[in-house]
Amino acid sequence: MNAFLFERFHELYGPGPDPLALRAPGRVNLIGEHTDYHGLPVLPMAIGREIRLLFRPRADRVVRLASANGFPAREFSVSREIAPFEQGDWGNYAKAAAQALALEYGHLAGMDALVWGDIPPAAGLSSSSALVVACALALLAAGRAALDPVELAELLARGERYVGTQGGGMDQAVCLCARAGHALKLDFFPLRPQPVPLPSGWAFVIAHSLVTAPKSAEARQRYNAVHSSTAEARDQVAARLGERGIRRYADLLARRGAEEVLEAAAALPEALRAPLRHVITEGARVERAVAAMRAGAFEEFGRLMLESHASLRGDLQVSCGELDELAEACRGGGAAGARLTGAGFGGCVVALCRPDAREALKAHLEASYYRGRPRPAGIPEYLLDAVP
Ligand code: GLA
Repeated sequence: MNAFLFERFHELYGPGPDPLALRAPGRVNLIGEHTDYHGLPVLPMAIGREIRLLFRPRADRVVRLASANGFPAREFSVSREIAPFEQGDWGNYAKAAAQALALEYGHLAGMDALVWGDIPPAAGLSSSSALVVACALALLAAGRAALDPVELAELLARGERYVGTQGGGMDQAVCLCARAGHALKLDFFPLRPQPVPLPSGWAFVIAHSLVTAPKSAEARQRYNAVHSSTAEARDQVAARLGERGIRRYADLLARRGAEEVLEAAAALPEALRAPLRHVITEGARVERAVAAMRAGAFEEFGRLMLESHASLRGDLQVSCGELDELAEACRGGGAAGARLTGAGFGGCVVALCRPDAREALKAHLEASYYRGRPRPAGIPEYLLDAVP
């Protein structure tokens, strides 16, 4: 693949020095959904799927982007205020990185770049944040600048909001701070990454529901709506408890225990009480899941994944029939636990099993969930081994 990409680069941008190359991985979130932007933890892991970016610095501020995956070529100039392409355009992720860095550093140099990736898009595996991170690393290198990975992750988490999603900081952080063989516990505000070794004898399989959830379209609005309703619930409970100056769930829980908060939430309408219940119980599940992973407590980890899915389906309502059916099929195929991963509304399920049971699980899914189900174009693969 690399030889092909180098050749293509020279075809596109002409002879000259060989481009520099870098990689940024996608991720699967093992547990902790819709908690990061509220300052509660998550437990993702980077996977062996990535964005590769070949680039050559330029003397001016122009960024030329080409795709080896068939996206149309794009061009823009790096500045502190970059007008976006049309909503949903892939070039906006590069613009997000460029603007965030320009705001931090003043003007940076531009680059000629070629992007390739094998992270399934719109699948909840963070192909978009990997693209943002890859572009940022390239622009930093082109501008002979560097930033500590934790600081860069925080900068890009804010920067990616450029595309219109009120996202948290999980994706950029795991992309930049993950370690091979480990999951990554992340705490936020400030960002604190903590590698957790994956016990031997544990394996994760990623199964695509064949329903795409492009962040750029309806899923983005639904994502932002979840953000708003959970924030609204938090504010109402804080007001009831007479707590002022609360900006995040993490702050509220530091002052009042989870039980007290849930009790105060009893007075809210169910449409707010249920999302709040999800955020609070999910944050607690992450802590228990990290302890279970450290202790090698396989069945317990699986149970927590199932509880997480039930909460995302019932309380937060970000699942869909296909994801529920697929998670159920994973159970039928012997998984200790399975849950939707990422923001929801489609995309993938992640399932926990023993390494020697992985093939049987996949065969079961082929014979059940996938049998006879139409495969939409643009989903070349639907079963992946999640190798950290
Ligand atoms: C998306 C966002 C993350 C996180 C998840 C849901 O992936 O980018 O910050 O909020 O959804 O857990």
